[in-house]
Amino acid sequence: MAHPYSARSRAIEPFHVMALLARANELQAEGHDVIHLEIGEPDFTTAAPIVAAGQAALAAGHTRYTAARGLPALRQAIAGFYGQRYGLSIDPERILITPGGSGALLLASSLLVDPGKHWLLADPGYPCNRHFLRLVEGAAQLVPVGPEVNYQLTAGLVHQHWDENTVGALVASPANPTGTVLGRDELASLAGATRERHGHLVVDEIYHGLTYGMDAASVLEVDDSAFVLNSFSKYFGMTGWRLGWLVAPPAAVADLEKLAQNLYISAPSMAQHAALACFEPEALAIFETRRAEFARRRDYLLPALRELGFGIAVEPQGAFYLYADISAFGGDAFAFCRHFLETEHVAFTPGLDFGRHLAGHHVRFAYTQNLARLEQAVQRIARGLQSWQG
Ligand SMILES: Cc1ncc(COP(=O)(O)O)c(C=O)c1O
Repeated sequence: MAHPYSARSRAIEPFHVMALLARANELQAEGHDVIHLEIGEPDFTTAAPIVAAGQAALAAGHTRYTAARGLPALRQAIAGFYGQRYGLSIDPERILITPGGSGALLLASSLLVDPGKHWLLADPGYPCNRHFLRLVEGAAQLVPVGPEVNYQLTAGLVHQHWDENTVGALVASPANPTGTVLGRDELASLAGATRERHGHLVVDEIYHGLTYGMDAASVLEVDDSAFVLNSFSKYFGMTGWRLGWLVAPPAAVADLEKLAQNLYISAPSMAQHAALACFEPEALAIFETRRAEFARRRDYLLPALRELGFGIAVEPQGAFYLYADISAFGGDAFAFCRHFLETEHVAFTPGLDFGRHLAGHHVRFAYTQNLARLEQAVQRIARGLQSWQG
């Protein structure tokens, strides 16, 4: 009998780590103390001024739809933030508020991808990107990348892999799972390469603000025709509020607005009102304190894992992930993750969740736990390596 559901839904893979998470939850229910390093969201809850603004918004009855493009005041505030952080003057008319960065990805892929068309993506990378492309009947052209290119697409790779069906490239800076950042010059050459091919460049900047010892450049500093997605989830600590944004070239806005109306009507209105508080000095000070805490965690965990024999060839400059090569220990990454979960109750993510390229030899650690917890995790990992038989 034919499968009752669509081919496109069958082609989309689940997060493989969910099987491990289910097992972690079982172990926890049995009373074990599991250290979660598999989770890609800040451990901090939403900052108090934003929660207060959200509560006030609810009390004031801001519970209805907003305009599809989002609250004008929020679009204005985001435009102001581009001025402050990057010295850029962005017309708020180019900004659409979306349900998470995920909503922005959905808009961008719906706008830019025709059936059968290809997009260049780095492998390893954030898995949902290729799934969004599949959903709109396009496809990801995965480009294997390693430490020699900072795990990022380059202009050279764009030219090398571009074929007659390629219509664009999507990059993330800082990237998930590797935490690497594209410099201004690299963004400019990527923009130049895609323009030369008459394609589009989409840059996922959702980990902006979470860079350590440096600030990440926005592609908008070097190319006004790029599409940029961003989110209130990570730096602003609002994962569960489901709020993000897309900056698009002026000519694309009317079509994007039409798509937004049809796909989700508007982003959550109480979340939009709450997010207005993100740009106040009080909230920004909290975000910066949290960023400094993430930097301390990276500075602890990176050398500690290297010392144990994990291969982390390039120092990640952003996000809250370490992508580590486990070849020195032998064996497959999924079995490796399972071993540490079962024997030491430490959970982290197998490379398979981020692509195909050497995925069986890599795992991702998220430093979304405090330093004391990370120290405990390292002790357990050191012990677990003794009993690992790769
Ligand atoms: C690289 C990247 N892009 C986009 C997202 C989507 O996040 P959200 O929809 O919460 O903004 C994530 C979430 O982990 C991510 O890692």
